[in-house]
Amino acid sequence: MIIERQEDITPKVLEAFSQTPDPRVREILASLVRHLHGFIRDVRLTEKEFEQAIGYIVALGQKTNASHNEAVLMAGSLGVSALVCLLNNGNKGQTETTANLLGPFWRMNSPRTESGGSIIRSPTPGPAIFVDVQLKDTQGRPIAGAECDIWHSSTEGFYEQQDPKQADMNLRGKFFTDENGRFSFRSIRPAGYPIPIDGPVGDLVRATNRHNCRPAHLHFLFFKPGFKTLISQIYVNDDPVLDTDVQFGVTKALIGNYVKHNGKEKPPAPDVEGEWYTLDQTFVMEPGEARLPRPPIQ
Ligand SMILES: [Fe+2]
Repeated sequence: MIIERQEDITPKVLEAFSQTPDPRVREILASLVRHLHGFIRDVRLTEKEFEQAIGYIVALGQKTNASHNEAVLMAGSLGVSALVCLLNNGNKGQTETTANLLGPFWRMNSPRTESGGSIIRSPTPGPAIFVDVQLKDTQGRPIAGAECDIWHSSTEGFYEQQDPKQADMNLRGKFFTDENGRFSFRSIRPAGYPIPIDGPVGDLVRATNRHNCRPAHLHFLFFKPGFKTLISQIYVNDDPVLDTDVQFGVTKALIGNYVKHNGKEKPPAPDVEGEWYTLDQTFVMEPGEARLPRPPIQ
């Protein structure tokens, strides 16, 4: 078939891709072509806009380096990461889930830390937080011997690799659940932070009149063979941008009960001064494939 008019393009491309041997690749390509062509017709994309679109895609790659992944940031800013997460967790989107976005800051090989230990590895100001974690299966039974990575930002809103004042691996740790599926750790209360807006994601944020902040959160990644790897974030309940997260990450199941304690209560450690926080959080792992994601940064 020789193309005569614009309507001919879509069937022509679909036909050309129809011999793709891998059935899943064939399915994805056919749907991509139908939706992409449909989108272009829907908005009557101009040649100038097409040029700009190509520029954005090129900039996503150019802005990405060893410590920053602009493509992950863009996927989050468009709600795509949240959609993929909710479609693939909670019994394939049927039930509530504590699964959430990986985000761009997970690193492999966080330092192994004993339960009850601290993940503060260089002096980091901020109120102390004591976190108790319970891990269960879908039947409510504790999961013992699961690996859990924790990572979060400082009270200034920076992850360690963004901040020369923090030691390598500060506010990161790897724990194992005990026979009751539990572990605990000490850190400082995390803070919300702005996402970088010096690239194409910034253009999107400004064009849509949005702020570029994420509500404060702790990151969790649970891994145990026999269970679907659980990636989670637990958000601070009184954060002012809980409902307007620039990455669309907050769901009801992920709002943590961060309890504030004043200086009159006896803190869990003698060196705690002023106000401090506790968080008691339960996570549920589904049966499935234990697979570590590719780290967005080194
Ligand atoms: Fe984060």
